Amino acid sequence: MIDKDVKYKGVIFDLDGVITDTAEYHYLAWKKLADELNVYFDRKINENLKGISRIESLEIILKNTDKSFSEEEKHRLADKKNEYYKEMIKEITPKDILPGVLDLIKELKNRGIKMAVASVSKNAKTVLLNLGLIETFDYIVDANKIKNGKPDPEIFLNAAYGIDVEPKLCIGIEDSKAGIEAINRAGMLSIGVGNYETVKEADIVLKDLSDSSAILNLL
Ligand code: BG6
Ligand code: MG
Repeated sequence: MIDKDVKYKGVIFDLDGVITDTAEYHYLAWKKLADELNVYFDRKINENLKGISRIESLEIILKNTDKSFSEEEKHRLADKKNEYYKEMIKEITPKDILPGVLDLIKELKNRGIKMAVASVSKNAKTVLLNLGLIETFDYIVDANKIKNGKPDPEIFLNAAYGIDVEPKLCIGIEDSKAGIEAINRAGMLSIGVGNYETVKEADIVLKDLSDSSAILNLL
C-alpha cells in the first residue's frame, strides 16, 4: 500500500528480469528441455515460472504431459536445464544491465538508501559477478539463505533484516507474480516491472526502470 507519509529507507531488488534479462534465458533453457521431452511449453506458461524455484518450475512444465518421471529423473532434468542456463549466462557482461538500473542504483546510493538483492536463483551470485555488481549491494539473499521461496515473504524479510531497515520502510521491485505477492505479504511497498498481467497486484506498475522518478519520489 502506498503511504505518502512514509519515507522509505531501503530498496530490495529481484535479480532475474529486474536487474538483467536472465528471465529470458530461464525461458530459453526450459524451452530447450521441454522441446527435447516433447512437452508443450510457451511464454504464457513461462510467466507462472518467474520467481519460482527450479524444481517447482519443472513440476509446472510437466503438468502438460501424461508421462511420469521418478524424483531422480526430475532432478536429472532440472540439472540439465541448469546446464543450458549456465552456458547462456557465461556470456553476460555489464552491458546486459537493464535500462535505468545503474542510474537508479547511483541515485539511491547518493541518497543513503540501503540496497539488497533478493533472488531465489542458485546462480544469482554468478550473474551479479558477470554484471560487475557483486560489490554494489549492501546485502544479497539467494536460495541458500532461505527455507521458503516466493510467494512466501521470507526472502524479502531476510533482505530487510540484512540491510537493517524495517520492512514497512522497504520498497521491493519484482517482475514476477510470486515476487509481488511476497513483497506485499512482507508489508513492503511493491513495484512491478514488465508484463502488466503478471505484476498487476503491485502498488505501482512500471514498464521498466528507465524512468524511476516514481520510485525516487517515495524517498
Ligand atoms: C528466479 C527465476 O529468479 O530463480 C526463476 O525467476 C528461476 O525463473 C529461479 O527458476 C531459480 O533459478 P535457478 O538459477 O536456481 O535455477
Ligand atoms: Mg524475477
